[in-house]
Amino acid sequence: MGSLRLSNVSKRFGKVVALKNMSLEISDGEYVVVLGPTGAGKTTLLKIIAGLLKQDTGEIYIDGVKVDDYPPEERNVSLFFQNFALFPHMTILENVAFGLKVRGYDSREAENRALEALRLMHLDNRAYSYPRELSGGMQQRVALARTIITGASILLLDEPLSQLDAKIKSELQYELRDFVKNLGLTALHVTNDVEEALALADRIAIINRGEVVQVGTPFEMVEEPKDVFVAGFMTDMNLMEGIVEEVSTNSVIVDIGNIKLRSSRKGSFRRGEMVIVGVKSKDFKVQKADGELVCRIEDSIFSFKYRKLIVCFDNGLRVQVKTDKSGLEKGAYVSLRVDPNDVYLFPCPKGGLRAAIAEITGVS
Ligand SMILES: Nc1ncnc2c1ncn2[C@@H]1O[C@H](COP(=O)(O)OP(=O)(O)O)[C@@H](O)[C@H]1O
Ligand SMILES: [Mg+2]
Repeated sequence: MGSLRLSNVSKRFGKVVALKNMSLEISDGEYVVVLGPTGAGKTTLLKIIAGLLKQDTGEIYIDGVKVDDYPPEERNVSLFFQNFALFPHMTILENVAFGLKVRGYDSREAENRALEALRLMHLDNRAYSYPRELSGGMQQRVALARTIITGASILLLDEPLSQLDAKIKSELQYELRDFVKNLGLTALHVTNDVEEALALADRIAIINRGEVVQVGTPFEMVEEPKDVFVAGFMTDMNLMEGIVEEVSTNSVIVDIGNIKLRSSRKGSFRRGEMVIVGVKSKDFKVQKADGELVCRIEDSIFSFKYRKLIVCFDNGLRVQVKTDKSGLEKGAYVSLRVDPNDVYLFPCPKGGLRAAIAEITGVS
């Protein structure tokens, strides 16, 4: 068993609020990714759950039992550290077995378990190598073996794939999920990498400044972001400041410096209100210039499956468009179309769009 519940957990370091009334429930066997920019409170959260750090207020329950007064080794959790380090002078096997020996397992039992964990990570044939003889991806697997060996049902993974290059990362990503699922473990994995979260998670919890902003399946997070922060973090939406010009029963027209976009997504907005308009780059359709939403192609960048256009309107507004059309040359004039159902509207956050974007990129 391995269910986990956080109830209103808060933690501050002096003036810094690292976690603020954080509540989150994870079912037995679920893979949950907590996603947030650097400084959002992810490592603090895992340390508190692991018992390495004490929260100021709130409770933690594991399998329904309040564990706030339990020491780390009695919590049924195992933590993979963000900046893991293997002991350079120990073999892979010794590295993995070390934690068990420290806990009083006899040498043979510890090494048998370590070998089993290495087998799961497809590394048993490297048991007698030294860390320096292994690639970065392999070392990461060793660190994972060390995390799972304890037999805990809940894995707490702090950016476990962050030090890997893209190709190894995507391989290990699927292995990691498979492995957690096959062993029936529960995973709480924290990262600032959106693609990683989308690929791995049963559910994603996005956090910002120590608070949960939204929880949902990867699909829900991408299709129904609840505010500008989530939209900007999870998707490649073009975000634009606009003013609500007209409100009718089923749609809202927004003016973005003389560019009018109609949105038919639900939400309540008032005439004259400042809003943030969001359109995903794939949802702009490019067609021959016809007098409406005319813009000029400033740049055209070829990518794997599509072309990314940077287009500029007369009023200076720039947006990104993904298209699979060919023959769209730099300097050409085109018109854009967008289905009103693909035009997202969000209340304008305090400080406007600029402040929201700074928060997403972690620059403040
Ligand atoms: N031991 C500490 N002392 C003071 N401030 C800390 C300490 N640990 C974390 N913080 C602060 O708490 C906030 C959250 O940090 P952290 O949990 O490490 O975020 P993340 O892992 O999401 O990058 C940051 O502002 C960080 O500077
Ligand atoms: Mg961290």
